[in-house]
Amino acid sequence: MSVGVLASGAGTNLQALIDHVHGGGGVRIAAVASDRAGAPALERAARAGIESRVFAATEFDSRAQRDAAIAAWLQERGVELVVLAGYMQLLTDGFLEAFPDRVINIHPALLPAFPGLGAIQQAIDHGVKVFGASVFFVDGGVDSGPLILQRAIELPAGSDAESAHDLLRPVEHELLVEAVRLIAAGTVRIDPHNSRRVVISR
Ligand code: GRF
Repeated sequence: MSVGVLASGAGTNLQALIDHVHGGGGVRIAAVASDRAGAPALERAARAGIESRVFAATEFDSRAQRDAAIAAWLQERGVELVVLAGYMQLLTDGFLEAFPDRVINIHPALLPAFPGLGAIQQAIDHGVKVFGASVFFVDGGVDSGPLILQRAIELPAGSDAESAHDLLRPVEHELLVEAVRLIAAGTVRIDPHNSRRVVISR
């Protein structure tokens, strides 16, 4: 299975995929795209010998045009699954239609709680005692698609967003790696009777 990764930032989730799924179990990361020139994720791709490209907002007249260009670039590279690994842009419907039920995202909260930006801070401000990570199929909403995997951990009293994120990062990495492996193995499907439910046959 050829995977395309979209990333805007540090790229630690991309690195987890490079280290643990790329080149094994029939999975290959074929392409990495970013909206940000200079994103460390691009260096991680380069070090792994993975082709990458920047699609900056300024190069396109609209989000739809940029997304169409990204989708075409990924399709030319044979990408079958798109992984959002810290991609800080919302995708337009046109992009999602190019990869139906084939775009996944990782979010640092136990969805449907705390969607959107600053999820960890939202959770801290709410006073939660546990938080976690969710991997889901992307739909047209903000962090609203069908959940594939979730994992919870305790939020230690007095945590700030940075220390909480440091605790969560290894959990995110494990969860995303597991989700990609399960999808590659053909064990993940959306319940035909309830499109909110993802069924995993392990
Ligand atoms: C992760 O916390 C992920 O859940 C969120 O963005 C962050 C990306 O981190 N969507 P990195 O760039 O993979 O290190």
